[in-house]
Amino acid sequence: MDIRNIGVVGAGTMGIGVSHAFAEAGFTVALVDIDERALERAKTEIERNVRFYPLLRKEAPARPASDVLQNISFSTGLAALGNAQFVVENATENWGVKQGIFPGLDEVCPEECVLAVNTSAIPITKVAALTGRPDRVIGTHFMNPAPLKPLVEVIRGYHTSADTVRLTQDILAGIGKESIVVEDSPGFVTNRVLMLTINEAIFLLHEGVSSVRDIDRLFKKCFGHTMGPLETADLIGLDTILYSLEVLLENFDDPKYRPCVLLKQLVDAGLHGRKNGKGFYTYDERGQIREEADRG
Ligand SMILES: NC(=O)c1ccc[n+]([C@@H]2O[C@H](COP(=O)([O-])OP(=O)(O)OC[C@H]3O[C@@H](n4cnc5c(N)ncnc54)[C@H](O)[C@@H]3O)[C@@H](O)[C@H]2O)c1
Repeated sequence: MDIRNIGVVGAGTMGIGVSHAFAEAGFTVALVDIDERALERAKTEIERNVRFYPLLRKEAPARPASDVLQNISFSTGLAALGNAQFVVENATENWGVKQGIFPGLDEVCPEECVLAVNTSAIPITKVAALTGRPDRVIGTHFMNPAPLKPLVEVIRGYHTSADTVRLTQDILAGIGKESIVVEDSPGFVTNRVLMLTINEAIFLLHEGVSSVRDIDRLFKKCFGHTMGPLETADLIGLDTILYSLEVLLENFDDPKYRPCVLLKQLVDAGLHGRKNGKGFYTYDERGQIREEADRG
């Protein structure tokens, strides 16, 4: 199947990056969010990132920002996905939200369209059961920022067909991404490890064992990580970390996934990390770290 029309649901951190990656590779993208302001923000951020990311890679831009934006339409209704051949869903990490979206996608998208779930932790088999096409539902766990990350963790649900896996890997190759296929389990491989690491780093901070900067420096200097766990948490979004831990706790029923109370407090206080300028650090308008965040 020759695939040109991509649907993207959710215009937050991930939807912005996923739309950018497909549009820059020449695909036509229909980006849908329920929030008009999120769509406006997405437009501005994609335009900025198309210019900014090549500077980070020390490369010339693949195409002008105006060309990339021309490949993307912005809408508030799923009806915009009536011609989609491959949809990547990136709405908020919450079961109720996914539950509200997938029956609608199943109704509106053509029968052969693959529905890819870009979740951090929710089991793909559970999402697939919301549709009448569980063989065409698959997990595509993109890393953030999606245009810069070379690999996608692909998750095979219980009913995902071999054709769906092949087609998904081909499409990802078409935007320059390698993929690794794993079996379905909450959090998959990456986030089952990463969420525990981040949560434990937050516990260390909460207990006063070390500071934000020193926790991150230990990981960077000792292990050669490019980012420490708390910078990584800010990049992902503290709200998304909290929701992901809640999904892991609920699905495994194992207390090792209980979110640190400090994480809950920061999310309640509106500190969502890089996406809204303040988390464990504060950020400038380009998303670069300014300093360690103060309370109050
Ligand atoms: N942030 C990361 O690093 C990361 C990485 C991989 C996967 N994910 C997953 O991607 C998904 C999105 O995460 P994010 O970080 O982009 O979150 P986000 O909070 O930045 O954005 C979520 C967006 O979904 C929109 N939304 C909510 N309900 C919707 C609906 N019914 N229909 C359409 N849009 C809706 C919101 O308006 C918002 O713009 C989550 O499932 C998350 O676990 C996140």
